[in-house]
Amino acid sequence: MFGFKRKPQVKAYYHIDPVKYWAQGKMILDEAHTLIAGSTRCGKSTLIHKLMWTALAFTPDRVKFIIIDMKEGVEMMRYQKLPHVLRFADTEQDAIKALDFAIETTRARLKEMKAQGIVKYDGADIYVVIDELGFLLQACGNEALDRLTLLGRIAAAARVHLVMATQDPSRKGCPSAIQVNCTCLIGMKCRDAQQSRQIIGMAGCESLPRYGTAFIVRGSEVLTLPITPKTDEEYQERIAYWSDPSKYLIYE
Ligand SMILES: Nc1ncnc2c1ncn2[C@@H]1O[C@H](COP(=O)(O)OP(=O)(O)OP(=O)(O)O)[C@@H](O)[C@H]1O
Ligand SMILES: [Mg+2]
Repeated sequence: MFGFKRKPQVKAYYHIDPVKYWAQGKMILDEAHTLIAGSTRCGKSTLIHKLMWTALAFTPDRVKFIIIDMKEGVEMMRYQKLPHVLRFADTEQDAIKALDFAIETTRARLKEMKAQGIVKYDGADIYVVIDELGFLLQACGNEALDRLTLLGRIAAAARVHLVMATQDPSRKGCPSAIQVNCTCLIGMKCRDAQQSRQIIGMAGCESLPRYGTAFIVRGSEVLTLPITPKTDEEYQERIAYWSDPSKYLIYE
């Protein structure tokens, strides 16, 4: 006779504390939706990685990701297997499915909130991370635009947040229907003052250094954001941490 061992059920997560995170990154993650724009190679993905590193200071019951990597998975691959990741899309079809999943999740949460009479969802924050928005819109057109516009309008109350990067600050690369719902606009080095105005509503990004500094506009507030990349070791350490469930899961 073979005896089957019952698979242990996950009861809870250890709340790892204190895990280092980037305070300014946390401030960005606390926004409803964020759009990062700037010329090619200005450090948009570097900023996204640093935001991921910051969000990964939290257990998967507090932070989750839906990742859409339009560079065929190359940029965001390292996160694919982490317990925080609900969906990982690296093709056009999967990107649309991932957005549909984000909409379904938002609607389910909103329904639950309505039933309970609450106005702000109190579960995990879900970050829909899109690198790069310009490519997604180019590849999927209105299919992507309509879904992102809807998410922009309804998702934040359900703690579902868009975090998007684009190297095309034109109306085609970041349409106003999406931009209007972004409470946090991050401008990095761009070509000229006109592009800067399209990104953050004012000139200035054209004079930024090639990378390492950005302007953040949150409502009427403008901040200068220094961005020092995390080292490969720092990323590896954090990813290794979440790759070993015995470190953070409490079993029944
Ligand atoms: N703050 C920084 N300090 C030093 N190097 C940086 C910094 N930001 C970016 N880089 C370097 O610049 C290069 C481009 O960075 P990154 O890939 O983040 O740019 P990007 O804007 O995402 O580019 P793309 O438009 O091609 O997606 C990389 O080699 C990266 O290591
Ligand atoms: Mg990039």
